[in-house]
Formats: sequence, C-alpha cells, structure tokens
Amino acid sequence: MVEKLTTSLAEYERRARGLLPSDLFERWFGSKGDPLWLSNTNNLDAYDRVFLRPRVLAAEPAVGLSTTVLGKRVNSPVYLAPAGAQGRFHPEAELASARAARSAGTIFALSSASTYSMEEVRAVSDGTLFFQLYVLKDRGLTADLVKRAEDAGYAAIIVTVDEPATWSNERDGASNALRESRQPKELKSHTPTTPFGNLRGTGISSEEGLLEAMEARLNWAVIDWLRERTDLPLIVKGIQVPEDARLAVEHGAQAVVVSNHGGHSMNGAYPTILSLPEIVDAVNGEAEVHLDGGIRRGTDVLKALGLGARAVAIGRGMYWGLVVGGEDGVKEVLDVLKEELYLACLFCSVTDIRAVNRALIRLPRC
Ligand SMILES: Cc1cc2nc3c(=O)[nH]c(=O)nc-3n(C[C@H](O)[C@H](O)[C@H](O)COP(=O)(O)O)c2cc1C
Repeated sequence: MVEKLTTSLAEYERRARGLLPSDLFERWFGSKGDPLWLSNTNNLDAYDRVFLRPRVLAAEPAVGLSTTVLGKRVNSPVYLAPAGAQGRFHPEAELASARAARSAGTIFALSSASTYSMEEVRAVSDGTLFFQLYVLKDRGLTADLVKRAEDAGYAAIIVTVDEPATWSNERDGASNALRESRQPKELKSHTPTTPFGNLRGTGISSEEGLLEAMEARLNWAVIDWLRERTDLPLIVKGIQVPEDARLAVEHGAQAVVVSNHGGHSMNGAYPTILSLPEIVDAVNGEAEVHLDGGIRRGTDVLKALGLGARAVAIGRGMYWGLVVGGEDGVKEVLDVLKEELYLACLFCSVTDIRAVNRALIRLPRC
C-alpha cells in the first residue's frame, strides 16, 4: 500500500519528480512556466480565471458524484486519459492503471501506444475500457486495431486527431542522452521487449517507428471511414474550436474531448477550460463533451462540469500516481480528486453533479 502521506496531486507531482531522472520528468510532463510547455501552463493557469458561485443553505443529506459516460456508469466524473508507454514509468504499466480505474469505478482509456496490449489489459480488468486509436498509414492495420478492441469488449473508440506525428525537437533537445533517458535503466528489465504491446509483430518497435507509421495528414474522411467500420461509439479527441466540434458531430461522433494533448502537441494553445463553453454551445447536446488538460483539483473538475463537460480525464496525475505507487498510487490519485470534488460540492451546495450548470460559474468580464 502507498503510505497515506499524500494529500493532493501537487504532492504526487513533487514525489514523482523526486523519483525520476529530471530530464525524463521534463520531457514527458513539462514544468509549469517552461516556455517549451506553454500550453500546459495555459491549461493550468486558466482554472484560476474561472470561479465558482457557491450557493448556501441548500444542502441535502447526500452528495451524488456518480454519473454516466456514454451510457456507462462511473462513480465519479473523472476517468483516466489515454496515455502511452506507461512501462516507461512502472513495470506494471497499464495493467496497474486499469486495475486502479476498475476499483475506483471509473473508465480506463488505453493508448494505441501502450506498453501492454489491449487483450492483456482486458485480462486484468472487467471494468469499462475505451481504446484510443492513432490512425496509421496502413489502414488495414488500423482497422485491425479497431476490430481487436471490439472483440476484447472495449466500449468506445477514442480517435486522437491533434497529433501530426512529429516530435518537438526543441523539447527532445539534440542530445542522445535525453533519448536514452526516456526509460530509466531499472525499468528496462521489467517491461516487455517490444515497447508497444498492441503492435507486436507489425515491425513497429520504437517511438521513431511509430511516428513514421502514423498518418500525419488526417482529414474528416477518416472519421467517416471509422464510422463505417465500427458500431462502437466514436470519441474525437483533440477538439479546440466549436467549428470542429460541430463537424465531429456531423461526422457521427458520440463525444468530443476538448483537449490540447496536455500541451504535448502545439505550443501556446488556448486553455481547454476556456475553450469549453463555446464548444458545449456548438455541440448543443447532440454529443457528450469531455475535457482534459490541467485537471489537478476537485474544484477544477467542478468548474469543467459547470461549464458543460460530461466528464474530465487526467493524464499527468495518473502517471504521477503510477510512479509513486503503481496501482495503489493511481487509485489514490483518483480518490483524492473524488474527495476534493465531494468537498467542492459541499461548499457549493451541489447535491448531484449531474445537475450542475453554468449557474455555478462566474467568469470575470474582461
Ligand atoms: C506522457 C504523456 C503521454 C501521452 N500519450 C498519449 C497517447 O498515447 N494518446 C493520446 O491520445 N493522448 C496522450 N496524451 C495526452 C493525454 O491523453 C491527455 O490529453 C493529457 O495528458 C491531459 O492533460 P493533463 O496531463 O494535464 O491531465 C499523453 C499525455 C502525456 C502527459
């Protein structure tokens, strides 16, 4: 068990930072304020510009935190974002995170670029799983991934559309030492030899190989192509403007994720929490709207729900939990957010998170 020393995601971040080589931490998580990670800083800072409007004297005995996400019941509106190569940070990798999500009663989204395969993850969890798809140039292989997700009982396909298959060389630096440090030596012996469990046998066996295999120039035709191939709900992840949210709905998406990839793709993106309201308006109830990017506290979750998100997802928080305590660490991160959300609801006299709306939010006029 993880020692109960930690009280917040900030504490998890501090401890994870202390456990990892500093260049590994910076390459994948980026520090707030780092000019190479402006989108992450923007995401984080924006929550301080959104305020709650607490009501008083409206309490009821119970606070309901459970809801549904695409028809699947969750104990809290926070799920685990698809995030690749977790074996880089813990030997049990996605197996640990999926188990933690299962015991927290929420959804685990598995990345295409996971260390363990979708079948291996399904074998350790009978909870709700979503599969995140990177569209590959090889459409046969792409269709095969979707089919495997269906066969393994995944409940939705998240297609990530904001990753034009390129690294930021600036973030990588020119140094080979940094590339080496992507995986701490002590983890190397634990992780399966092929870095991407879903892609064993395909010849794609390195990060560079995956980038080369990914389709860099996507357009809406690929959503139609996917729509024809699967009856699973489609979630389009990486939407930042209302026009694209509308197009996603028109091309058959059941949900969009307002996301800038936690700042991993374009630098200097607009904060997701501030993009959210106009996207919710554009979608007009025809699909669910999810959000990720910068969720670190229960109040952040409540603000997102107040602005119309059905659910939010966490990326970095999950990794920090994994680094600090494997499955127990990820579970505790989810528990901390749930407890904080519960407290925020008490402070605002919210008795059912499914009922929150913009009356809960105050946005300063600028
Ligand atoms: C190290 C790392 C790896 C990620 N890998 C993926 C991935 O494989 N697929 C994907 O769709 N998003 C990926 N993401 C983005 C997350 O799904 C999510 O959008 C982001 O982490 C949310 O922001 P947060 O980290 O502030 O919570 C990754 C994020 C991080 C930090």
